[in-house]
Amino acid sequence: MAAPHKAIPSHVAIIMDGNGRWAKERGLPRIKGHEEGAKAVKACVEGCGELKIEFLTLYAFSAENWRRPKSEVLALMGLLERFLKEKTSEMAENNVRLQAIGRLTDLPAACQKQLHKSIEQTAKNKGLTLILALSYGGRLEIIDGIKSLLREVDLGHIDRAMIDVEMFSKHLYTRYYPDPDLLIRTSGEMRISNFLLWQLSYTEMYVTPKLWPDFGKEDLFAAVEEFGRRQRRYGAL
Ligand code: IPE
Ligand code: IPE
Ligand code: MG
Repeated sequence: MAAPHKAIPSHVAIIMDGNGRWAKERGLPRIKGHEEGAKAVKACVEGCGELKIEFLTLYAFSAENWRRPKSEVLALMGLLERFLKEKTSEMAENNVRLQAIGRLTDLPAACQKQLHKSIEQTAKNKGLTLILALSYGGRLEIIDGIKSLLREVDLGHIDRAMIDVEMFSKHLYTRYYPDPDLLIRTSGEMRISNFLLWQLSYTEMYVTPKLWPDFGKEDLFAAVEEFGRRQRRYGAL
């Protein structure tokens, strides 16, 4: 029989989707939806802290989101920079450690600078690890992982016959974190959208029709409660 898992996931990952639709429903520009979405992050981070969740990964900007109109991309980058500037001291106070995954060098220089500053300022915190996925693509991550592994092979540090799942995992952006236990996607879309393709292999999925700006602490708690009722078997009996 599969061992019962603990009721609280140690790592929650969220595809924060539906900001645009939230704004459209109100006759507002899409960026207003993103602004409200940024506000919703606060409640979620607090909720994770209360539940003693160890890792929270938020899909904030995908590698494919660069395909959006330039004005929206610029607005999102501005919002990210402002969010980091304004929230870092709050994170520090709440013992939140900020991290980021993705092709971070694709971000505008000012964003990168602020991101690294915020990461540094929260590095010693021991509470929730908040991981922002920025210019993140699951397929790109796997390609980057393969390149990194091949470099080690070329240097003679490892023998290609030694390559296994565990070793490959150590060459991904997520090498310091466990795989997510629970994936939440808002706005009802039933797809992964190139998020954590490798890491989600045995993650429990939870999709809610709520749009991200409307997703509150109670919604997080409902998702975690549902997670507690799941039977994880990992292919065994
Ligand atoms: C999610 O909301 C935020 C990002 C992808 C940056 P969307 O902008 O995708 O909102 P919808 O899906 O158009 O409603
Ligand atoms: C996924 O949402 C990316 C983020 C939430 C950052 P999208 O809105 O980009 O995904 P698709 O296009 O609906 O698959
Ligand atoms: Mg979307």
